[in-house]
Amino acid sequence: MNITRQLRPQKIFVTVSSALLLVLYNGPFMNDMEPQSYKLQYYKDKQEPPTLYYGSVHPSARNVTPHESSLIIYNRVPKCGSSSMLDALKRLQIGNMFKLVGSSVYFRRWLNSEEQMKEIKNIQKYTMNKKLPNKIIYNRHMYFINYTQFGLTNPIYMNFIRDPIERFISYHYFMRDTRHQPHQNIWSKLSVDECVQAQHWECLPEKGQSFELTLSYFCGHHQFCREVGNRDALQQAKYTVEKYYSVVGVLEEWTKSFKVLQHYLPGFFKSPSKTLNDYIAAGHSKANKGTNRKKVSESSKAALRKAFKEDMEFYDFIKQRLFLQFESIK
Ligand SMILES: *[C@@H]1O[C@H](CO)[C@@H](O)[C@H](O)[C@H]1NC(C)=O
Repeated sequence: MNITRQLRPQKIFVTVSSALLLVLYNGPFMNDMEPQSYKLQYYKDKQEPPTLYYGSVHPSARNVTPHESSLIIYNRVPKCGSSSMLDALKRLQIGNMFKLVGSSVYFRRWLNSEEQMKEIKNIQKYTMNKKLPNKIIYNRHMYFINYTQFGLTNPIYMNFIRDPIERFISYHYFMRDTRHQPHQNIWSKLSVDECVQAQHWECLPEKGQSFELTLSYFCGHHQFCREVGNRDALQQAKYTVEKYYSVVGVLEEWTKSFKVLQHYLPGFFKSPSKTLNDYIAAGHSKANKGTNRKKVSESSKAALRKAFKEDMEFYDFIKQRLFLQFESIK
């Protein structure tokens, strides 16, 4: 009895300090902490591990929009122009008679299956609400949820991405902007060039390291979807896009992306065309443009492209698909 009592303050110290260490180490990624392997995650979830798709996936112009669905999930990828996109959607709401709704949760992107189910129910609250229009666009920073896994039919999916290296640079400075991240660490002041030269894990992650990629948003909630250099994750992401995403726009192809959206999702993007056309013509704004952005050298960009090879391949795949869709509507 006495011994346990004596040990208690020590125990508390260990617990508190290790928690503190975790916070310091993980910094902005704190909320994304998860079990080491997806096997463990599924064990805890009492759910079967994912069936991976191993065949080859080719981009196509196939229209995969489900006819019966009046819900779009826009699981937006951070730093890919989503504030411009949300701005456009707000303008489109009235003319197209839909309601744009969303989550205020920003950093929790990875969900276990229980949380995914909760999120599905949360979205249903909007679609079943008689006071809201029939058509809903729901947005949140989160990975792809496969409704089929819960015995339901998938809604319409759309998204927007951009060149992964540009996204990386934007995210790097966003996370170091004291307006968004008051808790700065020793690496906070590093420019992308300095960070790459130092080969810090935040800039040049190693193969197998857990890291949020663009493709993670399409691959899903399994741990392997966030592993650097994981070919299965790339494959799964491509497969999901071809099967479930009506349109994945590309920020660098803003105008083309909107044309494709208008044709593939006319119920949400068609009218009134005047305001939309003016808006598209104005180009995407830089609403969230960070401060202290320094120019990034070509050699750093080359090193980043190598480190994020799978994301680069994914980006090329999405661009090819978008161009095929654009060709098919001309
Ligand atoms: C979604 O879930 C269904 C049922 O479990 C499965 O057959 C399908 O392959 C899954 N799709 C993706 C993209 O994971």
